[in-house]
Amino acid sequence: MAATLLGPPAQARHLAEGYRRCAELTRRHGTTYFWGAAILPAEQRRHVHAVYALCRLADDIVDAQDACAEDHVEATTAALQAFRDAFTTAVADHGSDDPVMAAVAHTVRETGIDPECFDRFFGAMAQDLHTCAYDTYDDLLGYMEGSAAVIGEMMLPVLRPTSPAAREPARALGLAFQLTNFLRDVDEDLDRGRVYLPQEDLERFSADPAARRVDDAWRDLMRFQLERNRELYREADAGLPHLPGPSERCVRTARVLYSGILDRIEAADYDVFSSRARVPTWRKAATAARELGTRTPADRRTPPGQARTAAPAAPGTGSGAEGMAGGRIPLALRPMPRRDELTPSWRDAKPARIRAALDVAMSRDPGGWYVVGASRDLGARRSVVRTVGGSEVVLWRTSDGGVAAGPGSCPHLGALLDDCEVMSDRLYCKWHGLALDAGGAPGWEPYAAHDDGVLLWVRIPTLGEVTADAPTITARPPLARSVAAVVEVPGTCEPRDVVANRLDPWHGSWFHPYAFSHLTVDEAATTDEVLTVDVTFRVSRTYGVPVRAEFACPDARTIVMTIVEGEGAGSVVETHATPLGLGPDGHPRTMMVEATIAHSERTGFAVARHLQGLVRPAMARTAKRLWVDDMIYAERSYLLRARGESYGV
Ligand code: FES
Repeated sequence: MAATLLGPPAQARHLAEGYRRCAELTRRHGTTYFWGAAILPAEQRRHVHAVYALCRLADDIVDAQDACAEDHVEATTAALQAFRDAFTTAVADHGSDDPVMAAVAHTVRETGIDPECFDRFFGAMAQDLHTCAYDTYDDLLGYMEGSAAVIGEMMLPVLRPTSPAAREPARALGLAFQLTNFLRDVDEDLDRGRVYLPQEDLERFSADPAARRVDDAWRDLMRFQLERNRELYREADAGLPHLPGPSERCVRTARVLYSGILDRIEAADYDVFSSRARVPTWRKAATAARELGTRTPADRRTPPGQARTAAPAAPGTGSGAEGMAGGRIPLALRPMPRRDELTPSWRDAKPARIRAALDVAMSRDPGGWYVVGASRDLGARRSVVRTVGGSEVVLWRTSDGGVAAGPGSCPHLGALLDDCEVMSDRLYCKWHGLALDAGGAPGWEPYAAHDDGVLLWVRIPTLGEVTADAPTITARPPLARSVAAVVEVPGTCEPRDVVANRLDPWHGSWFHPYAFSHLTVDEAATTDEVLTVDVTFRVSRTYGVPVRAEFACPDARTIVMTIVEGEGAGSVVETHATPLGLGPDGHPRTMMVEATIAHSERTGFAVARHLQGLVRPAMARTAKRLWVDDMIYAERSYLLRARGESYGV
């Protein structure tokens, strides 16, 4: 039955099914578009999905295995022509039996995309079947006119720009995206007999992609290509001020994510042969969520509730990414400094001042309280055992959601009380079923324990510490409106070494350039009790989030970083150091337990909270990566002290 013969309700269902399939195609194959479009109102979003689906389906025909092999090319050409005919007919007939094509035709009609765009697009697809390499960059651009620049033009009516000046940047963005694809997919394209790196560039750098080898010539070539690609992204940024708020956020999300692929290629030392450089889905979701909560210059120019009319962009709003900086926009154009431009920080990182701050921290009594893990690690039905200062400690949940604790050995025959059943507030020893509760038992004295909602604490009588009723917990953002992630990293060192590492923020830009840059300590706002730092958290090589943060130690085993200004103000990173006891080599072991409790008042952060299943592992990975490096620092500090070598800390 032809779609055009369907009654209105059936037609609506047919169309809805088509858009649903377009969305599914986009979600599966074009996740960057998908997450970028997630920011748009539903009506515009479905048009992005439809345009993507059309391009993807055509691309699938020409990219199929052996599609341009001599004995297949005729069939592929016919398949592409049939697809094009189906599209043309659907647009002319205002519908199609194929729900996807019906949705595409509906989008073309609703948005008014110029039909000529599709002529150029299908022309490029056909060209791809007969051209396997390009002599010059201009030749490649000739192909990309129809395969990439025109996609930017197709998207423009969907994004509803406020000025014709948005056209060229939109085309540049289309080119930039495809160039990134070419650089990422060199290996895959070789398998299909195609090379999208201009031959003139290969000759100039004496590079041979067919060798699939990363050598100096290859690195030089790729460096050149990446810079060319980044220049296109910069050209595209000039279009952002000409887009309404949601469209600007959508495009910026896609731009940040796509250009992030270049960062990953760079981080992989230009090795595009061993694995595919990709931006993980969690980052795409997180970027979209962050952008959703961002107020753009366009938003600020338009009072809430007032419709925007087509007009040239207001002067003085900056262009492109620069326009993103300042105000309430968290993402700043702040390129990572080159290593040879980085100011050495060793003069400021004076051992005596680190030592003075460490002495203050060490003087603060933890009251016998130790962090032993994440609240989430303790379920309702089984116990867990942790080690503190060489002693095993068992913890389990009580029916009121609290936590009970005691020595980790059963008072009967000493069984380890790990992973034991918990029933009606009681822990049952695995060996002979002895029941233990928070009231204790002969020969088994319970410990005080506390669950602060993120971390588990246990109190163990400790020499030199005056027992406190409760652990010291510094101010946190409201947990119900935050996302918390906890990581644990063990090391051969003492708790003071973990704390000392954090009391040296000056190492951040040098030792963790992938995470921090533009780090300065505000001397006027810094004392031995509180270190105040201005720093940019890296999002990519080009963009970062500048914040102001304070470091303080509430006790000798804890240091807390609180963001006091900028994106996520009020968020904290609590670093706790719990002594585990001596290792088999006679050296102390310490467990670093770090809780990142992120919070933002932005609307988009509420979305991030709903996506916390994706966001939390990302936060944990970031923290863990830092601590792999920082534990090397802490272990080295311990080793030097153990060897009697003093550097003044
Ligand atoms: S060892 Fe625990 S009940 Fe026997």
